[in-house]
Amino acid sequence: MNTRGRIDTHSHILPGIDDGCPDLADSLTCVRQFIAAGYAGTICTPHILPRTFPLNTPTRIREWVDALQEAVNGEGLHYQLWAGGEVTLAPDNWDTFEQHGVPTLGASNAVLVDYWGDSWPAFADEVINRLQAEGYQPILAHPERMKLPVKDLEQLVATLSERGVWLQGNLNCLSGGEGDQSQWLSQTWLKAGLYDLLASDTHHSQRMTGRLVGLQTAIELVGATRVAELTIERTGKIATG
Ligand SMILES: [Fe+2]
Repeated sequence: MNTRGRIDTHSHILPGIDDGCPDLADSLTCVRQFIAAGYAGTICTPHILPRTFPLNTPTRIREWVDALQEAVNGEGLHYQLWAGGEVTLAPDNWDTFEQHGVPTLGASNAVLVDYWGDSWPAFADEVINRLQAEGYQPILAHPERMKLPVKDLEQLVATLSERGVWLQGNLNCLSGGEGDQSQWLSQTWLKAGLYDLLASDTHHSQRMTGRLVGLQTAIELVGATRVAELTIERTGKIATG
């Protein structure tokens, strides 16, 4: 298993199952771009959003990862894939988990969550508290892109970090690909040491450039050693458990 190099812990490169890569050719193009940028593997995290993507269960995601891995190997590419998911926080998350299982990342107990509302609801805290109580490590995806007023967002992010929620910055935000505010917040939080992980949230090969520019931006802002902590050391432990 090739786990030397960076590992991306947030991506939508499984072909044709959510709003990510539309087909296998695009998935393989993304893999080639990751390899060229020094990545050794990707945890595939399709949206876990039952009303929009009802087929995206942990069992099916593992099957799709195995199929993409076979295609990657068939191309002669040395690149490791793992299964995961990106759970949009919702009042019925536990019903979904009880029905289909918890979509943990790779071999770890980590669970990637996101939220897009303009305020932080009580059920979001309840889901996170229960994940922690049952031994899971919640990771909040791209907090810098959340829609809360900035002051509320800064306070929320600080509180979640203190509570042990890991914060995953988005490389595309660091390069400005998601707008000025998320660029400013992500750069500020990276320099402040708030992030536990950095990830690409790749959706399509044609939108990879901003992610890779963001990786270089991160290195310029905090240095290669710190970026390695956020994209190699901790991510490697998540992938391999
Ligand atoms: Fe995502």
